[in-house]
Amino acid sequence: MTPAHITYENGVLRLLDQTKLPATVEFVELRDVKSAANAISRMIVRGAPAIGITGAYGLAIAVRGSAGKPDFASALKTAADGLIKARPTAVNLAWAVTKVREEVTSLAASGASPRALIDAADRAARSIHDDDIDRCRRIGDFGSSLLPSGKDVMTHCNTGSLATGGYGTALGIIRSAWRDGRIRGVLATETRPLLQGARLTAWELLSDGIPHTIITDSMAAHFMKTGAIGAVVVGADRIARNGDTANKIGTYGLAVLARAHGIPFIVAAPLSTFDPKAASGGDIPIEQRDPHEVTSYAGVATAPTGSSAANPAFDVTPAEYITTIVTERGALALPFAQSIDGVLTEIRESAGSRS
Ligand code: MRU
Repeated sequence: MTPAHITYENGVLRLLDQTKLPATVEFVELRDVKSAANAISRMIVRGAPAIGITGAYGLAIAVRGSAGKPDFASALKTAADGLIKARPTAVNLAWAVTKVREEVTSLAASGASPRALIDAADRAARSIHDDDIDRCRRIGDFGSSLLPSGKDVMTHCNTGSLATGGYGTALGIIRSAWRDGRIRGVLATETRPLLQGARLTAWELLSDGIPHTIITDSMAAHFMKTGAIGAVVVGADRIARNGDTANKIGTYGLAVLARAHGIPFIVAAPLSTFDPKAASGGDIPIEQRDPHEVTSYAGVATAPTGSSAANPAFDVTPAEYITTIVTERGALALPFAQSIDGVLTEIRESAGSRS
């Protein structure tokens, strides 16, 4: 079992520092919203659902500092904007922060006391966290049955407990499939430049006793050609209405390779990862990170000083390369444009009937 990586008590947010793994298990304690935004942009916490949960707790901390003050509404807006800007691609961050903000704003409009606002924000953030763990378990169980039996699964980046509230999305499917005796083992791509596959996915798999082999990103085609890979399973940071999917840089290449080798390419994501405002992948902003992440590692130069480098953190896989998208409501049927519209309409209607 990996240690609980996000905990929150009385306005103190405690995060496992993922930049230090696997060498050091170290926690940071955050007491203000700016530190929460900073932890997200520095990737102390990362993974779409996990940064959403952190953003929600970050906003709950902001509510503590501003509830009852005359500038409450504007302070809340500034805090929410700062959190949302911390990382632009994963829509779960904006989704979670907006959810907490809306909850608190509507209570404030009804004249609730500062204490009631603080409690409501804490409750909303905690429920986003608990709910995510539940969604991941359902994704895992739905996805397990889709994997071909007795083969290896390839995965990219880290989509496990560390990237979510717990259990994981793509790694949740792998966990459930291992429990069900469906898969032989896992090929984890190292995931340059920040090595989330080698550092984090391998750490989680090792702790669960799931057999795995780390490969460099450039080995993927070679291993697909051997016939040992039954499926490629990845997570998502934002899914557009037509099924185009933004995920860790390198995902698009794996999807094209999987198609060339006749291997199913499965995307796993909770419905909080779908962006009703994005018609297609062209509407998804791609985070550009510091090129030094490419030209050095752990403070050691890996390229000559003076060379320039590119560092898009995500790419967009066109929907036509995706075999299935597994959500907490099951696998979405083709064509995705229609099935995504169906689930998003259901969610809108059930939210409308509750209000
Ligand atoms: O830059 P990162 O490490 O936050 O990127 C994470 C990914 O791309 C994951 O695949 C995605 O967020 C899904 S996590 C369940």
